Amino acid sequence: MGVSLVPVSRVDDLLPGKMKPVELGGRQLLLAHVDGRYFAFVRECPHEAADLQMGELDGYKVRCVNHGYCFDLTTGECQLPKGGPQLTTLPVEVRGEEICIRLEW
Ligand code: FES
Repeated sequence: MGVSLVPVSRVDDLLPGKMKPVELGGRQLLLAHVDGRYFAFVRECPHEAADLQMGELDGYKVRCVNHGYCFDLTTGECQLPKGGPQLTTLPVEVRGEEICIRLEW
């Protein structure tokens, strides 16, 4: 199995409590910084494809502004409504000053 760490942002460019759009291989992602931890997830809401950058970051959750669906960034699980569509998340690692997406194949 191979592993690649792909840098997508500098740590300094993502303040605590904020989200930032990045691109990886043509896919639109968001990075979030919460309590010194970083998360990456698909920018498009899995419900009806609204832009989650317009959503609210609330602790380890992001809430879509379109219909209020709420996703746990640590798992991608839809918490509101329970059993709703899963948010696709990607593993993140920090290497030096860079936030990297970890890709395995
Ligand atoms: S499009 Fe995000 S909750 Fe409906």
